[in-house]
Amino acid sequence: MAPTALICDTEPWKDLKEHVNQINKTHLRDLMNDVERCQSMMVEYDGMVLDYSRQRARLDTMDKLFKLAEAAHLRQKIDRMYSGEHINSTENRSVLHIALRAPRDKAIYSDGKNVVPDVWHVLDKINDFSERVRSGSWVGATGKALKDVVAVGIGGSFLGPLFVHTALQTDPEAADSAKGRQLRFLANVDPVDVARNISGLNPETTLVVVVSKTFTTDETMLNARTMREWISSALGPQAVAKHMVAVSTNLTLVEKFGIDPANTFAFWDWVGGRYSVCSAVGVLPLSLQYGFPIVEKFLNGASNIDEHFYSTPFDKNLPVILGLLSVWNVSFLGYPARAILPYSQALEKFAPHIQQVSMESNGKGVSIDGIPLPFETGEIDFGEPGTNGQHSFYQLIHQGRVIPCDFIGAIKSQQPVYLKGELVSNHDELMSNFFAQPDALAYGKSPEQLLHDNVPDHLIPHKTFSGNRPSLSLLLPSLNAYNIGQLLAIYEHRIAVEGFTWGINSFDQWGVELGKVLATQVRKQLHLSRTKGEPVQSFNFSTTSLLKKFLEVCFC
Ligand code: F6P
Repeated sequence: MAPTALICDTEPWKDLKEHVNQINKTHLRDLMNDVERCQSMMVEYDGMVLDYSRQRARLDTMDKLFKLAEAAHLRQKIDRMYSGEHINSTENRSVLHIALRAPRDKAIYSDGKNVVPDVWHVLDKINDFSERVRSGSWVGATGKALKDVVAVGIGGSFLGPLFVHTALQTDPEAADSAKGRQLRFLANVDPVDVARNISGLNPETTLVVVVSKTFTTDETMLNARTMREWISSALGPQAVAKHMVAVSTNLTLVEKFGIDPANTFAFWDWVGGRYSVCSAVGVLPLSLQYGFPIVEKFLNGASNIDEHFYSTPFDKNLPVILGLLSVWNVSFLGYPARAILPYSQALEKFAPHIQQVSMESNGKGVSIDGIPLPFETGEIDFGEPGTNGQHSFYQLIHQGRVIPCDFIGAIKSQQPVYLKGELVSNHDELMSNFFAQPDALAYGKSPEQLLHDNVPDHLIPHKTFSGNRPSLSLLLPSLNAYNIGQLLAIYEHRIAVEGFTWGINSFDQWGVELGKVLATQVRKQLHLSRTKGEPVQSFNFSTTSLLKKFLEVCFC
């Protein structure tokens, strides 16, 4: 495709820049009085409700954002993604995580080949393998059933599966099906993470799943070797075949490592690491823990949103609305961060996962054609479940910096608890905060109100809340495997919408390379100093001094 103009040079972008002056004259207190506006900013889909009336936007703002989407060729870019074009141009790859959860009878093409049968070939293999492990027909080297799984992987080969596992753990149906089993994740090369993850496990009853798209990631490979040693020193080297399996696109390196190709679960280069939770990366460990039928429901939820994203008009399309609002907040209102605040302990690993999906995807400095961007892209994502976050960083959000917030809640709790004599159930207590916080942010509290409440003069500045702080609320019907899949796909596509609008490549990650190269030089130096006593050289003063200090302590 011919290079495209930068989005900031288009009329809709300039119009939105102008429009900010209008919005700056409004306050959410007033915008919230416009019932027609609020009604239009509430979208319902499949039992979910998205309420974005507390965004600093009017209905004409939305019209302007949809015009921006048109100028960015959003429709065409979505079509190109779904039709398997190589939209990840710097790596010359399709971007087809949607194929990972497509129904069996769907056809999705990459390089002229329908990839859905390949996807289902692997899913069927996972279904079969996980069933054999769970039922005890696949046993370890000493004949014992494998009831514990350690998944070794990092980044996209860890964060997504951990999020889904944490979310499913307390779902009654999933929990029931996981009885007597454990799933652990070993990600960090820090020996402490190794110690924590093998603590209390017996090699005889443990299956290790090495998860790495490239099978070259230093941390994962070192941890995989550590786990191989843990197995073989306890059970003998022949036990590795029964106790270690792999998920990778690099089948040659997996075999070289010593894992039987028959016990390897493939995926493809058209799946980005951070978009891989619906591939064997997530499906294998999760199926071992919960059984494939539960994981299939999660895939169905994600697939449902893929269809919604593809076919729903933009003004009712959840990922499109969310993505455009993010662009509005970042590029026009100038808010660089976003807080992800699930009122659900089960979603405690959602923000860490979205951090990678969002920040690795959209933290870019050049357009997809390599032109330096005169505006910043991406947002700083962080978050904690409510109400815990309220007792941590909300002070800053209420009276310090303005940070657009995503409030996520569920109508039905996974674990309803009602104590006799209490005013409300635990879930109602939790959700009271989910409903109250967005209004506190939007309305604030004025000095006049405080005066009226007889607050002493000297405390009025301290107790004033300026309000006008944007948020949106996403209310899910419940938090089962299906809804968790939907939530994942909403955010994945939202992030794509942002990147498509900014005109960047959201699917490469060159920014993580430089640090890896420098670490290789340091590793080499540490090895030479430790084994041959060679002095530290070729680093700057600062790094040399720190390395010398580090090497003073004996490595034993
Ligand atoms: O940190 C960079 C990265 O390449 C991520 O994009 C990826 O998810 C992670 O490393 C792990 O890579 P792999 O699955 O190849 O081990």
